[in-house]
Amino acid sequence: MSFIDLVKSRYSCRKFSDRAVETEKLNAVLEAGRLAPTAMNHQPLKIFVLKSAEALAKIRGITRMAYNAPVVLMVCYDKDLCYRALNYNDEHECGDMDASIVATTMMMQATELGLNTLWARGFNAVEIARSFELPENLKVSCLLDVGYADPIEGGPSPRHTVRKEMGELVEEL
Ligand SMILES: Cc1cc2nc3c(=O)[nH]c(=O)nc-3n(C[C@H](O)[C@H](O)[C@H](O)COP(=O)(O)O)c2cc1C
Repeated sequence: MSFIDLVKSRYSCRKFSDRAVETEKLNAVLEAGRLAPTAMNHQPLKIFVLKSAEALAKIRGITRMAYNAPVVLMVCYDKDLCYRALNYNDEHECGDMDASIVATTMMMQATELGLNTLWARGFNAVEIARSFELPENLKVSCLLDVGYADPIEGGPSPRHTVRKEMGELVEEL
């Protein structure tokens, strides 16, 4: 599949089937994340794989954004490890960006392997951190729900096909 066809085939899945994610596929998804770039190669990521009944019950108890996915990747970054740019009079830290490119790479690898995903940020990160007893330096950036779409209700939402025209998005200067 060409990359653009892969991009077109991805959509946000909010209802998963009972089919488990194969270990080899999950490992391939995580490996893709491991290879993703990070600012100054600081690699501040920490990815928690939630797939035990206990971990899934816990995350589902905090947020409905885990839906019924059989695997939830809790993508975190270490705020003490991530690159903090102090130059250009524009101080910023790159942890969320690092986490986003890692999550994106995993999302696309999952798609290529025939899995479905949902990227979610609609949760209380403080509550998740407290519940999973994360150390203070770890920040939850997003959840990536992974599984196989429910054949009946697991399709794309109407929003999936709504995109701005190129002219609205891109401007040549
Ligand atoms: C940063 C980010 C946060 C998101 N948070 C949520 C969320 O909390 N819950 C949810 O159901 N979808 C969430 N989504 C999915 C978007 O709603 C979805 O990508 C968008 O509507 C386009 O639909 P599509 O992914 O099917 O193409 C999020 C996506 C991104 C990129």
